[in-house]
Amino acid sequence: MTRNPATAPGVLVRRATLVASTAVVVLAVVAVSLVGFGGRSSAVTTGGTGDDPGGAGSDGVAQARIVGGERTSTADEPWVVYLTDASGFQFCGGTLVAPTKVVTAAHCTASAPDRKIFAVVGRDDKSSKAGRSVAVTKTWVSPSFTAVGSGLDVSVLTLGESVPNATLPLATASDTALYGPGTAARIYGWGATSENGTASRYLLGATVPIREDSYCKSSASSFDPTLLTCAGFDTGGVDTCQGDSGGPLVAGGKLIGITSFGDGCARAGKPGYYTRVGANSALIEKQIAS
Ligand code: ARG
Repeated sequence: MTRNPATAPGVLVRRATLVASTAVVVLAVVAVSLVGFGGRSSAVTTGGTGDDPGGAGSDGVAQARIVGGERTSTADEPWVVYLTDASGFQFCGGTLVAPTKVVTAAHCTASAPDRKIFAVVGRDDKSSKAGRSVAVTKTWVSPSFTAVGSGLDVSVLTLGESVPNATLPLATASDTALYGPGTAARIYGWGATSENGTASRYLLGATVPIREDSYCKSSASSFDPTLLTCAGFDTGGVDTCQGDSGGPLVAGGKLIGITSFGDGCARAGKPGYYTRVGANSALIEKQIAS
């Protein structure tokens, strides 16, 4: 991270403006903090780069500006990856689950089966060359997937070379407790920081509560609890968004979900929907082992 201007490149020419720019940054931070404390929905409208520090919500969940997220690092979450096409364009997220295997969403890979895909590991900043970009050599798409919201939205990618980064274990069928309402789950991605907003340059993370099936059902009539779970606050404000699909939903140190869909992003009463990994882990593990 280069948030401290003194450690950033170009510090010599920037020194003269440092005092003035620091004052502006301090004022901006104070303003954002005040707005942030006002309510969760404010996080949607402030959008931004994700560099803003967060305030604590009324329920004590830290948040700032995914939507409502804060900067996080692949140094701490080494299994969070993003997917690009041959031009380097980031279009989805994913999770490293074995040295040569990445779990992502079927809707990330099924629409363009001939597209060359690369998985980028160990790179927080999409504009940097940190970590590595590895070509995907095989793509498996869940056979039951037909469209978002219909069938199991999961895909397993095989990498052309193995990577040394730590992997994340999948939740299993016995991990039902992790899907209990109120479980604090983490979401990660480089997607949009507001509905219709632009993608984040940096990896962002946020915490959202897992919701009861009746709540998930109320805002998506097609909700099938054997295939999906949902997460989000009543008031919205914190959510995955476009470009985060395929990325991880994590609880208890395990991959419990895969970002799949939502109605807009971070809207009140509109949770995010995640492919349910636990109940479907046998099918996914079989592909990871293949
Ligand atoms: N389908 C989106 C994607 O391809 C993910 C949307 C998630 N939306 C939400 N509100 N949780 O990136």
